[in-house]
Order: sequence, then structure tokens, then C-alpha cells
Amino acid sequence: MIDLRSDTVTKPSPAMRKSMAEAEVGDDVFKEDPTVNKLEEYIADLLGKEAALYVPSGLMGNQICLNILTDPGDEVICDREAHIFNYESGSPARLSGIQLYPVDGELGVLTPEQVEPYIRTTAYHMPRTKVIEVENTHNRAGGTIWAVEKIIALKNLAKKHNLYFHLDGARIWNACVETGISPNEYASNFDTVSCCFSKGLGAPIGSAIAGSKDFIKEAYRVRKAWGGGMRQVGILAAAALYAVQNNRERLKEDHIRAKKLAERINANSNLEINMKAVQTNILLFKPLKLKQAEALKLCKDKGLILTPGTVDSLRAVTHLDVNDDDINKAADIIDEVFK
Ligand SMILES: Cc1ncc(COP(=O)(O)O)c(C=O)c1O
Repeated sequence: MIDLRSDTVTKPSPAMRKSMAEAEVGDDVFKEDPTVNKLEEYIADLLGKEAALYVPSGLMGNQICLNILTDPGDEVICDREAHIFNYESGSPARLSGIQLYPVDGELGVLTPEQVEPYIRTTAYHMPRTKVIEVENTHNRAGGTIWAVEKIIALKNLAKKHNLYFHLDGARIWNACVETGISPNEYASNFDTVSCCFSKGLGAPIGSAIAGSKDFIKEAYRVRKAWGGGMRQVGILAAAALYAVQNNRERLKEDHIRAKKLAERINANSNLEINMKAVQTNILLFKPLKLKQAEALKLCKDKGLILTPGTVDSLRAVTHLDVNDDDINKAADIIDEVFK
């Protein structure tokens, strides 16, 4: 089976497992796990923030940030295809009593002109807009990248209206290797940032959030309150540290493979793909003659697993555990299914 469902399906490599086996550990709820402390310092430094906190998942990372930046009844503006809006199980409402206001962007990127009309006035019968959220790279838009100038334009809008600015940087590493922009430069524009080790970087678990010292102090409390206080978790933080230190540069290979596969898809007249959206490791493409469910099944029967994309499209994601040969085979299967 060639598994292109997600970049989360990777297994820890022998070298990563070795670093996990050898990790020094302690009770992280007492802040005594040296490997977690090292990871948090490393991430704070990489993102140019005062402090960082290791959390079990990207979802928890985003939601802790939103919880701290808002009060119940507040509103967060995001792109309509944002992960926090589509894939976080309604957590903003469940965990923080807040609502999201989805705005239509282009390939996941929002402009101040698109956002400003939806920032609420202070009328008492309206929710209070508190945060603007950005996702970079953008998952449901197909791994698309935010240019720094676009981020700065939206940050200036947030500033003008006294709003917080949050980055869902689950795949910020992909944006960085593709553009050459440093994590620090991207992150410097935001109040709070979340990033993941368990996507393209190949760690089995874990994310981090970063921001000011005061913010992280509060985040530490919220993580505990939500059951995310972990004990000798250095064994997992070691995998994250290994991932972020060793697997960032190689993301470029995933992007090259995704482009190759996209070109083969683009050459097939029974499939539609927006090549403008092919920027990193996620591909969305639409079968013109088959329904989504049938297309997924036929691919699977021939040895290729994909996931549903948005509405009627299919999604393929390149990652650490697929090579050139797998990509060629995947393209051959796609050509056979959609001939
Ligand atoms: C953009 C984005 N943010 C957040 C998450 C949530 O990460 P997790 O699955 O670790 O909760 C994901 C997961 O795929 C994601 O793609």
C-alpha cells in the first residue's frame, strides 16, 4: 500500500527511536523533565518568542491559545477552510465558549479588505471580535503558503483594531523551507504561535505553542486543566527535538515529489488540479467522471490510499515515508483508475 492520506502517518525512524530511548526524563508537571525543557527552549528560540510549551497535539495547542486570548462569547476571525473551523471537533465552542467567524479567502490567504468588514463594532448585542487567525501552510487549501507581506498586512489590521493575532503553524516548517523565510521571521508577526512535530517532521506525537512568558505561564495552567499535564514525557519530546533538528530541510523533497505527482495528475484529462495551489506537500484534485467515494475505493483496491479533500476532491500528501518510486507507482495507479 502506498499511503498518501496524510503526513501524519509516518513512523519514527531508527535514529529517532534511539534518541527517544536515550532521553533523560523527569516529572514534567514539576518542570523537571530536562528533555522537555530543552525542547521548549529550542522552540522558543527558533520562533523568537520568550517561551514555549510542549503540548500533546496541534488541536490542543491552537485551542489553548484561543482560550487565553478570548473570553466566553468572543469571536475569532479565520479563513472558511481553516483547520480550527473544520477539523477541531467544535472545540472553540466546547472548550472556550467562543465562536468563529469564517471569511472567504483565496487559497487560504486572507486580505485586510476581506477581513475588515467582519470585525465587529462595540455594540452590546454583538459578539466581541478578539482574534484574527492565520494558518500557514494552509491544510484544506492544499498546503498553500502565506507570503510575509500578506501576513504583515493582516497584522497591521489586527493592530488597528486592537485584536490578537494567532498563527496555526502546524506546517510552518514547510512554508519556511519552501520560501527560505525563517520560522522566527514568520512568528515575529504573531502574539501566539502553534507548531507541530507530528506532521511532515515525522515525530510520533506532539506540538508546541509559543508566546510571551506571561502567556506561556497561563498556557501551562490551561494545559493542566484540560488533562494535558504529562509526566516523564521527555521520551516523546526527544522525538520532537530530533524531528525539528534533523527533518526540516528534507521537507523540500516532499515538495518536489508533490510537484511531480501534480504534473502527472495535471496531464490526465479526467482529473482537475489547480497547479497554482501546488506549493508544498498537499495536493487536492478532482475526478471529473467518478464520484469521490468510488474514486477513493478504486485507488485503494489498486494499492493507493488517499483521503477525501474539500467537497468532491481527493487529497494526496507526500511525506517522509514515501520515496520517488512510491510516487511513480502512485501516479501510475491514478492514471489506471482515471483512464
Ligand atoms: C493546519 C493544522 N492545524 C492543526 C492540526 C491539528 O493537529 P493534531 O492532529 O496534532 O491535533 C492539524 C492536523 O492535521 C493541521 O493540519
